[in-house]
Amino acid sequence: MIGASAGGPGTDGPDRTLRAREAHVDGSGTHAARSAGDHVDDAGDAAPAPGPATTALLERLVEAATWAPNASNVQGFHYVVVTDRAQIARLADLWAVCVDVYHAWMASAAPGHRDRDRFERIRAAHLYQRDHFAETPALIVACYDAGGWFRRIQLNWPGALRGFRRLGPRRTLQFLRGARAYMGRSEAASIYPGVENLLLTARALGLGATLTTWHLTIERDFKKVLGIPRRVRTFALIPVGMPMGNFGPVRRRPLAEIVHRDRW
Ligand SMILES: Cc1cc2nc3c(=O)[nH]c(=O)nc-3n(C[C@H](O)[C@H](O)[C@H](O)COP(=O)(O)O)c2cc1C
Repeated sequence: MIGASAGGPGTDGPDRTLRAREAHVDGSGTHAARSAGDHVDDAGDAAPAPGPATTALLERLVEAATWAPNASNVQGFHYVVVTDRAQIARLADLWAVCVDVYHAWMASAAPGHRDRDRFERIRAAHLYQRDHFAETPALIVACYDAGGWFRRIQLNWPGALRGFRRLGPRRTLQFLRGARAYMGRSEAASIYPGVENLLLTARALGLGATLTTWHLTIERDFKKVLGIPRRVRTFALIPVGMPMGNFGPVRRRPLAEIVHRDRW
């Protein structure tokens, strides 16, 4: 679970929380934290704009994301970093809808390896996050726009004809069916490794961050709030804050169940 501070929700300003973390993780953070602190104090109790240390910390996460592999090095990624409290409040209203629909409908299809106790704990965490989403210190929305690359591929007819000659008729049909999967999955596969880099960097810095995709169910509304162009797809909405409660190792199915040797 992610909150505004390690001590509990809402006990400190979200921006101040991330800045405190920056001062902690970076030996040179003292100055940054102090100057950002001045900024917040000056701002009074109105929602403060993010200080330079918070901005730097969040950009560090995004920079790590850009180091991930991406198909043909197209680098069609964009990351919308949201710290404006009014924007997060707008997204919180949308998020509550997503959580309610998930719990009314999809959550009951929980896999068998999740016992009732664990399911109830996860549900409680989801409902807590729903009710406190507006306090999330920062949100990062991972987007990808490979449209230009796809269009250039589609327009390259001479290249396509050379390829089809190499494939022969049977494989050309198979290829045309597979091309859609190739493009769709390549786009997703070009952004999720970056998201994982971001999550690992956040964890290394002692921050909590979660890959979420529920917003995709009403993606258009989220994009409207964030001004994301129609052609750009979003792939993950990542709340960033301080971990609350257990932040230990994850539990996964044993390797014996999922490794297939030489063939499935
Ligand atoms: C594709 C994908 C989508 C996810 N979407 C959500 C989500 O919308 N909301 C959420 O709370 N967690 C989401 N998660 C996180 C998973 O619920 C979480 O990784 C899983 O329950 C295992 O928990 P653990 O990683 O803390 O062990 C998502 C993870 C992935 C890979």
